[in-house]
Amino acid sequence: MGNLNKLKVQIFFFSSILLLILGGWFYTNSSLTEPNQPGVSLFPSKDNIISVGKRVYGQNCASCHGLNLQGAPNWRQRDEDGYLPAPPHDRSGHTWHHSADYLFKMTKYGIEKMIGQKYPNNMPVFASVLHDNDIIAVLSYIKSTWPITIQRRHTQLSIRANVGQK
Ligand code: HEC
Repeated sequence: MGNLNKLKVQIFFFSSILLLILGGWFYTNSSLTEPNQPGVSLFPSKDNIISVGKRVYGQNCASCHGLNLQGAPNWRQRDEDGYLPAPPHDRSGHTWHHSADYLFKMTKYGIEKMIGQKYPNNMPVFASVLHDNDIIAVLSYIKSTWPITIQRRHTQLSIRANVGQK
């Protein structure tokens, strides 16, 4: 083998090692970016998850958002104390306009955490009430009640939101 070829082999070898090290570094650090990491998946077609979600919904959400996900009456109007009533989770609300990731974090950490500022509201924080799996299940149940076209649009916008994750 000529000297030039030897050099090429060496360069190839060392760049591969460098790539491995860099890749490992990025991989390790990407797991530190919580709570902003991408990748919450919902399961609106898995019956066992939906039935757990329906129970979680009945026990934790229905009192405000309505047993049939219809929301509070006049949910667009603030009450006399300035609070917004609970919006519907069916197709008439804007729940499906938010990515799966956003809905998960909002339910877990609350609205103020998501918008990064004080915002008095009546939506509880569920971090110390529900396990992550229960939150996934309840959101999967909610999604399972939407028409299939809206479910598809929601999946698309959730994927786009993850790709553009800050
Ligand atoms: C005590 C009443 C109450 C309970 C219980 C409750 N919520 Fe809410 N929720 C609200 C209110 C009020 C808002 C609107 C807050 C605002 O924007 O000021 C809201 C907003 C939301 C939103 C944002 C919707 C959007 O379109 O922006 C989601 C998602 C949500 N709730 C999910 C849940 C889930 C899931 C549960 C059960 C695990 C739950 N909520 C339980 C009162 C409640």
